[in-house]
Amino acid sequence: MPTSPRVDDKKKRPALAGADALRYNASPVSKRFYITTAIDYVNGEPHLGHAYEKIVADVIVRVRRALGEPSFFLTGLDEHGQKVQQAAATAGKEPQIYCDELAQTWQAFAGKLCITNDDFVRTTQPRHKQVVQALLQQLHDQGEFYKGEYVGYYSPKQESFLTERDRNPDGTFDALYGEVTQLREENYYFKLKHHQQWLIDYIEANPDFVAPRFRCNEVLGFLKNNELEDLCISRPKNRLAWGIPLPFDADYVTYVWFDALVNYISVPMARGEEAAVWPADVHVIGKDILKFHAVYWPIMLKAAGRALPKQILVHGWWQKDGQKMSKSTGNVVDPVKVIDDWGVDAFRYYVLRELAIGPDGNWTAEGFEARYTAELANGLGNLINRSLSMLGRYRAGVVPARHDELCADAQRAQAALLEQLRGNELQAALISIWSYIARVNQYVDQTQPFKLAKDAAQSQRLDEVLYNLTESCRLIATWIQPFLPDTSQRIFEQLALPADAQSFSGAAWGGLTAGHKIGAPVPLFPRRDKPPVAANS
Ligand code: MSP
Repeated sequence: MPTSPRVDDKKKRPALAGADALRYNASPVSKRFYITTAIDYVNGEPHLGHAYEKIVADVIVRVRRALGEPSFFLTGLDEHGQKVQQAAATAGKEPQIYCDELAQTWQAFAGKLCITNDDFVRTTQPRHKQVVQALLQQLHDQGEFYKGEYVGYYSPKQESFLTERDRNPDGTFDALYGEVTQLREENYYFKLKHHQQWLIDYIEANPDFVAPRFRCNEVLGFLKNNELEDLCISRPKNRLAWGIPLPFDADYVTYVWFDALVNYISVPMARGEEAAVWPADVHVIGKDILKFHAVYWPIMLKAAGRALPKQILVHGWWQKDGQKMSKSTGNVVDPVKVIDDWGVDAFRYYVLRELAIGPDGNWTAEGFEARYTAELANGLGNLINRSLSMLGRYRAGVVPARHDELCADAQRAQAALLEQLRGNELQAALISIWSYIARVNQYVDQTQPFKLAKDAAQSQRLDEVLYNLTESCRLIATWIQPFLPDTSQRIFEQLALPADAQSFSGAAWGGLTAGHKIGAPVPLFPRRDKPPVAANS
C-alpha cells in the first residue's frame, strides 16, 4: 500500500457546552468525520446485533452532520473466509453468487433501518482486493512476514489456530471453537512481538483509543500479561479457496481478518478520498472482535506507516429474554418483523434507550411495549399531538407572539444533550430529551390551557402557553432527529416548517415566529390496543 502524507489530527476542540455548541463551526477542519461499523459476515440473515451496531453508528454520524461537520459513514459486508465458503456450499451455490444474492438482502436491511451510510463495501469488490494485495506486498517487502510450519490445533469455526492456553483444565476446547482439528501446515506469519511494547505505550498515552474505559483496561491487561503470538496471515488454497490470493505466493489466500480490517482504509483510498477521510474517527464494533481491532489492526497500520484510528467504540451483546440468541432454539429478534409491526423509529428508540454503549443488553417484548407506550405514545407523541391540536383549536394554527417561560429549561436540556452527544453517550442523551418532554407535559398540566381557553380574560396567558408549547415541539423535533429521523420529519411537517432538522444550529429558542401557520396534527405513535406480535413470531 503506497504511503501518503498523513493528515493532521483534527484540531483539538474545546468542550462544547450549551449555547456555545451552537456556534461551533466545523468548516476550518478539512478532514471529514469518519465512522465505520464492523462489516458483517454474509453467512446468514441480519439480526438484532447487526442492526444495533449500525443504528449506533448512524446516530453518531447524524449528530455530526447536525452539528455541521462533514462526515463519511461506511458499513458493508465481509464476504471471504471459511464461514462464507461453508455457507455457500451448504446452500449449493458458488460463493460469489451466494454473496451477490445475500448482499441485496443486507443492503435492503440497512435501508430498512434508515441508515445513512455514504458507501457500502463488499470485500469481494476489486477496489478492496487491490488495496489488500498492495498492503500485503508492502509488508512482505518490508520483511514483516516469514514462512513457518504450524503443527497443532485449529478451529474451523473460529478460523483460528489454538494453543495450549486455549484448552480447558480438562484438556478439552471450549464449545465456542466448534470441532477442533489437528493440523500440520506451512503458512505466512506476521511478526507481532516487536510491536507489542509500542502498542502498550500508545494505548497508555491515549486511553480514549478504546472506549468505554473498561474495555481499554481489558486490552492493556491482555497486552501486558501475554506475549503476542505471531499472526498467521495466510491459508493454503487447497484448504480454503475463497479468499484474496497472496500477491507473493499463488498457493495461498489471505486470512479473512487481514482482508476484512483493511476495508476501513481501502474504500477511502479507492474513492480517492483518503486524505479527506483517514484516519477513522470511530470504529464501532462488538466486544467479541475487540482484539482484532485494538491489537492487530493498529499493528498492521503502524507497520504500513499509516495513522491509527482515533477510537474503537465497543458495544456489548444483546440477549433475548435473558438467553443467548440462537436460530436453532428460535430465540431470536427479527428486526425486520419488529419494524414492520411498530415502525423503524420505535425500534431505533428501544435499542438506544435500553442499552448504553458498553454493557450487554436484554431484549424483551414486554420491555419494548412498555417503552413504546410510556415514552413514545404517552410521552413524546401525546405532547406533540395535544400541543399542536390546541394551537389548531384555539388559534386556528397560528403561532402567537414569542414568550420565553420554558426557554431556560430548554437551554439547560440542550446543553446537557450536546455534551452527551459529543461523548457518544446516546442513552444519556435520550434521557435528557425525555426529561424535557416530561417537563413540558408537566407544564401543560400546570397551566391548563384547555381551561384558559374557556376564559376570554385569559387570552394573553393562553397565547403565552401556546407559544411555549409549540416552540418546545420544534426544539424536540430537532433534538430527536439523529435518533428518530422519521418522527422528526413528521413533526416538522405538522409544524409546516422545512425539514432542516438536520441542523442543530436552528435549535435556539425563539426560532418560531409569530404569525406562522402550522399544519394539521397527526398522531405519531398510535396506541396499540391489541397485544403486540412477538418479535420472533
Ligand atoms: N466479519 C466480522 C467483522 C469484521 S470487521 C473488520 C464479524 N462479523 S459478524 O457478522 O459476526 O458480526 C458483526 C458485528 O455484529 C460485530 O461487531 C459483532 O460484535 C456484532 N454482533 C453480532 N452478534 C451480536 C449480538 N448478539 N449483539 C450485539 N452485537 C452483536 O465479526
